[in-house]
Amino acid sequence: KHILLLGAPGAGKGTQSKRLAEEFGLEHVTTGDALRANKDMDISDMDTEYDTPREYMDAGELVPDEVVNEIVKEALSNADGYVLDGYPRNLDQAEYLTEITDLDAAVYLDVGEEELVRRLTGRRLDPETGDIYHTEFDMPDDEDVQERLVQRDDDTEETVRERLRVYEENTEPVVEHYREEGVLVEIDGEQTPDDVFEDVADAVESA
Ligand code: AP5
Ligand code: ZN
Repeated sequence: KHILLLGAPGAGKGTQSKRLAEEFGLEHVTTGDALRANKDMDISDMDTEYDTPREYMDAGELVPDEVVNEIVKEALSNADGYVLDGYPRNLDQAEYLTEITDLDAAVYLDVGEEELVRRLTGRRLDPETGDIYHTEFDMPDDEDVQERLVQRDDDTEETVRERLRVYEENTEPVVEHYREEGVLVEIDGEQTPDDVFEDVADAVESA
């Protein structure tokens, strides 16, 4: 199946995609992780404002389409079924996606702004496994794991505000676009992770 997971920064895309990929045998394609793994890639030969993805990400801005589209094209060409997390983030990317693949469902996780800020500023990551935790809602029992947890560079209050602004300006129109097309499945993302997963899994099964 070809599934899009849409939602604001902190809505739970990564948390849910990881589980979906495992339970449905899908490839987890995430532009955020791909860019973090290639942060210092030299993109100065493209006609871009900054020379590396890192500079865009640390500012909370979108990395240029030509960089991201290439990553997605490559990843999807190697995937049979996939869950796409973090893309498309503007209408041009949505149009590009239509040219390279077809979709079974666009699942949208709806979460309010106050909750998004709480989730992002409390998020912690396990650099060894990629597992996602939260200082208040979900910490690992193992003390060794607790000690090695790190915070993402763009999860500072200031960058979080800018990411939410960029989301509102560029990505909300994408959500509207899929709603108008009649393929959007809206899910209450403020439930517990397990309850959100139940709804997401239902949406994927009936897609
Ligand atoms: P990206 O990595 O995609 O970040 P994002 O969209 O800002 O989303 P996040 O990863 O912050 O949140 P999430 O929805 O995955 O939430 P999570 O599951 O971790 O992009 C980062 C940057 O890369 C962008 O700013 C941009 O610069 C660049 N980029 C990426 N894609 C691009 C593109 N297509 N075009 C251009 N540039 C691009 O959960 C968050 C926290 O909440 C965790 O702590 C988790 O434990 C907790 N949590 C999750 N679910 C629940 C729940 N139900 N209840 C309580 N807590 C929960
Ligand atoms: Zn994520």
